[in-house]
Amino acid sequence: MHGEGSSRKVAREELIQARKLLAKSHAERSYAAGEPILQVRDLVKHFPLTQGVLFKRQVGAVKAVDGVSFDLRKGETLGIVGESGCGKSTVAKLITHLERPTAGTIRYKGNDITRASGRALKAVRRNIQMVFQDPYTSLNPRMTVGDIIGEPFDIHPEVAPKGDRRRKVRELLDVVGLNPEYVNRYPHQFSGGQRQRIGIARGLALRPEIIVADEPVSALDVSVQAQVVNLMERLQDEFGLSYVFIAHDLSIVRHISDRVGVMYLGKLVEVGTETEIYEHPTHPYTQALLSAVPVPDPEAEGRRERIVLEGDVPSPANPPSGCHFRTRCWKAQQRCAEEEPPLAVPETFSDTLPGEAVHHPSACHFAAERAAVVGPVET
Ligand SMILES: Nc1ncnc2c1ncn2[C@@H]1O[C@H](COP(=O)(O)OP(=O)(O)OP(=O)(O)O)[C@@H](O)[C@H]1O
Ligand code: SF4
Ligand SMILES: [Mg+2]
Repeated sequence: MHGEGSSRKVAREELIQARKLLAKSHAERSYAAGEPILQVRDLVKHFPLTQGVLFKRQVGAVKAVDGVSFDLRKGETLGIVGESGCGKSTVAKLITHLERPTAGTIRYKGNDITRASGRALKAVRRNIQMVFQDPYTSLNPRMTVGDIIGEPFDIHPEVAPKGDRRRKVRELLDVVGLNPEYVNRYPHQFSGGQRQRIGIARGLALRPEIIVADEPVSALDVSVQAQVVNLMERLQDEFGLSYVFIAHDLSIVRHISDRVGVMYLGKLVEVGTETEIYEHPTHPYTQALLSAVPVPDPEAEGRRERIVLEGDVPSPANPPSGCHFRTRCWKAQQRCAEEEPPLAVPETFSDTLPGEAVHHPSACHFAAERAAVVGPVET
């Protein structure tokens, strides 16, 4: 009897395992089959550099974004990392239509929204919302929290008719974990983490499908960062949101992202899943970034090799020819100055299959794995 019971238990365990595997492969299939909600192609933003007081003439351009392409799938989080000035915020402003691109296209659910105006622009702005970095300056100190969160309803009264606004605002406060009774308080009465919750509530007010979060936790204390990231993850599940999550902290991006894009001087240089980027980076710049992050495990810390990049980031007004990274790359050769490497699966890995960790886009002529690189652990 006893033997029969334990074999039934084993069979049940096997069934559970089989179900788990089936569910996982189903999730992966639907993820792979999912249409991108946002498609960005060859996006360019050049800010003109002018000279002269009365008669301004253009003498050049700051190439803040210089040909960026990526897809964002429904329910996915795409993290974007890179050093200061590489163009992350400009990408965020272009997607949310706070800036107009110099060239390139942005498609939302298959429709070209790059030059949307009038009603189409209003719809875009409703569906693609931005959450800003600094909760201290992004909230108007003279407005109550209720008015701040309810402000988007002035432009979109169809979402919340006048009589229903108070209730909706209180609901939003509750959703982001704040007491709905705080509705008449002012921003200075809240802590940094609470203010970012208010910023997120305002971003959610119009029930957008995409949230572009530009360094949403960078200004917060480390202890509060995790709470806000966890809140964003919960809201993503609850409302089926897709995120573009911008940060310079590689550990936070690793924690929240399904895929990660690494930017350098106006371009994406490597894009892949969290495992592909953090455990199998093939671009020298990604490898250098990861090697600079402290690792808590002393054994791993001892094994790893720090890559110290020489020199400063060149000016985006005058980027190097060919590969933008070549002036700081220890592997640079003549070809790197003459030929711009495309963001594609590198030739070296052309015989690998999708699903193999090195099989992901990396804009380098001499892409290779570096065994000694140990990235940050997931927190
Ligand atoms: N309105 C503007 N006019 C001129 N140049 C600009 C403007 N906005 C940004 N830039 C320049 O474009 C480049 C990219 O700036 P951006 O703010 O996108 O970088 P970032 O990656 O967000 O940096 P950070 O990590 O410091 O926020 C920088 O050289 C910046 O000085
Ligand atoms: S293309 Fe050349 S310069 Fe650019 S990252 Fe690769 S090896 Fe370095
Ligand atoms: Mg920025």
